[in-house]
Amino acid sequence: MDFNFKSESTWKELPFEDFQWFLQEVKKKFNFDLTGYKPQRVKRRIEILIRKWGKSSYKEYLDLIVKNGKAQKEFLDRLTINVTEFFRNPEKWKELKTKYLPELLKESGSRFKAWSAGCSSGEEPYSLAILLEELRAPTTAKVIGTDIDVNVLEKARIGAYEERTLVNVSPNIKEKYFDYRDGLYYVKPNVKARVIFKRHNLLQDPFDKNYDLILCRNVVIYFEMKTKEELYRKFAESLKSGGIIFVGSTERIFNYRQIGLEVVAPFFYRKVK
Ligand SMILES: C[S@@+](CC[C@H](N)C(=O)[O-])C[C@H]1O[C@@H](n2cnc3c(N)ncnc32)[C@H](O)[C@@H]1O
Repeated sequence: MDFNFKSESTWKELPFEDFQWFLQEVKKKFNFDLTGYKPQRVKRRIEILIRKWGKSSYKEYLDLIVKNGKAQKEFLDRLTINVTEFFRNPEKWKELKTKYLPELLKESGSRFKAWSAGCSSGEEPYSLAILLEELRAPTTAKVIGTDIDVNVLEKARIGAYEERTLVNVSPNIKEKYFDYRDGLYYVKPNVKARVIFKRHNLLQDPFDKNYDLILCRNVVIYFEMKTKEELYRKFAESLKSGGIIFVGSTERIFNYRQIGLEVVAPFFYRKVK
């Protein structure tokens, strides 16, 4: 979902220095660091909002998002695009289930630990938890779901979903792992019990270690190349040797060799033993 600027020929871009000043203020006031994100993209998105609210400068817009909760929520939402679904790119999840998960579970057993980084409203970590159930993994095998956005995490903890996010879920899996009530699908307690949600900013907060599996999908598209490389280096350090990182279907880790990974298949990398 990108915005079309062509029709708005009268709109003049605001000065880059003002944008940089705004980013510093946002970091101080909301603890939200946007400096690693692609600047042109972020600037464009913010200026659409500035215009929408009838403001003419970054200063005026900052005052607005400080005082007006609705504008503040909208600002944070727009910059952290949360689109997701269960088993996004289903053929890759099938590969994960049949090829890599059994191997990782065999290696780590009850100590198995996975991280869904940038998990949005929870569909991704719950998809993994469903596979753990399907593979009869020990109940101590856990998934940590993290995101920068507290609003999506709240939704994730509730675990109630509309039909449209379940397009890749077969009727059999729906029946086994969801309770349908009042138009929503509720994730069953056994699946929920496997997932722990936490707020975590990938660009600021420390990384935990010893993961068997890390999923970071459709998150880094907003980051600059240097930020991405640094992030993948940190993910590699957080994996156990032999552990796997699963990325989005438009993503690639270019520096995989330097950071001690090998390619297992498209979108799957393994930490070299
Ligand atoms: C498009 S969603 C991806 C959801 C899921 N991984 C998937 O592929 O379906 C991107 C998520 O990344 C999160 N995100 C963006 N920047 C982040 C950061 N610096 N740290 C943690 N999460 C971030 C957003 O809040 C959003 O929920």
